Amino acid sequence: MPGAAAMPDPEALSPGAPGHRPRILILYGSLRPQSFSRKLALEAERLLRHFGAETRIFDPHGLPMLDSVDSEHPKVAELREWAQWSEGQVWVSPERHGTMTAVFKNQIDWLPLEQGGVRPTQGRTLAVMQVCGGSQSFNVVNALRQLGRWMRMVTIPNQSSVPKAWQEFDDNGRMKPSSYYDRVVDVMEELVKFTLLVRGHSDYLTDRYSERKGSMTAAALASAAGAVEGVAEAKPERPAMQVGRTARTACCGTTSTCS
Ligand SMILES: Cc1cc2nc3c(=O)[nH]c(=O)nc-3n(C[C@H](O)[C@H](O)[C@H](O)COP(=O)(O)O)c2cc1C
Repeated sequence: MPGAAAMPDPEALSPGAPGHRPRILILYGSLRPQSFSRKLALEAERLLRHFGAETRIFDPHGLPMLDSVDSEHPKVAELREWAQWSEGQVWVSPERHGTMTAVFKNQIDWLPLEQGGVRPTQGRTLAVMQVCGGSQSFNVVNALRQLGRWMRMVTIPNQSSVPKAWQEFDDNGRMKPSSYYDRVVDVMEELVKFTLLVRGHSDYLTDRYSERKGSMTAAALASAAGAVEGVAEAKPERPAMQVGRTARTACCGTTSTCS
């Protein structure tokens, strides 16, 4: 119903914020030619554009499995560049064997949490959606929420799960009118509003005490090591692990920013 789909008001949400349209990247998780998650992604794109967003849909065809090529591969570079460009994202995966597909997860696995100061997901908004073959499930949206938390995204409260997806799209690939379609409209409207609210404040919102503390400790240790080396060059070198352990504040040791 056109009158009911009110345009999000940027000034109401974030006065004086950047004027460009909210930039939304859409990822989906299937390589099937008749993929319903792709159709749902296209439906999301139409709605996002209606609500004033600029959109890109990443095509997962040709994206190699993680670590089978290096990150210079054009599809990997495109995915990372588009994620970095985005201010918000939509993740749409089918449910397979009770969870998201490998095709979907592989895309996220290619996105570093942090690399050279670049963080392609942190602080961005996220909407999660799934398609099911079965009658009803929320397994995938729950798993995607968990993944979004891991990627340090601001996942919006609303979400969409389309059951028996094969019944919900017409021959032209358009979603039929239904309460499921209405929910998708709700989710996209909410995503645009949250993106208007959050963008421009992401760095501040995701600035962490533990990371500031880690950087300060590392800087102090580096400065102390420099001073000591300057005074007594013959002194044995401080073991690198000791510096690393002291400076690292997080859990798995692969990056100082994990968890
Ligand atoms: C191997 C396999 C496992 C599946 N597992 C589930 C499942 O656990 N739950 C469910 O609702 N649908 C399941 N389905 C149905 C798919 O979710 C459904 O076909 C969906 O449309 C696939 O997404 P796509 O159309 O984007 O390729 C499964 C389908 C296949 C082929």
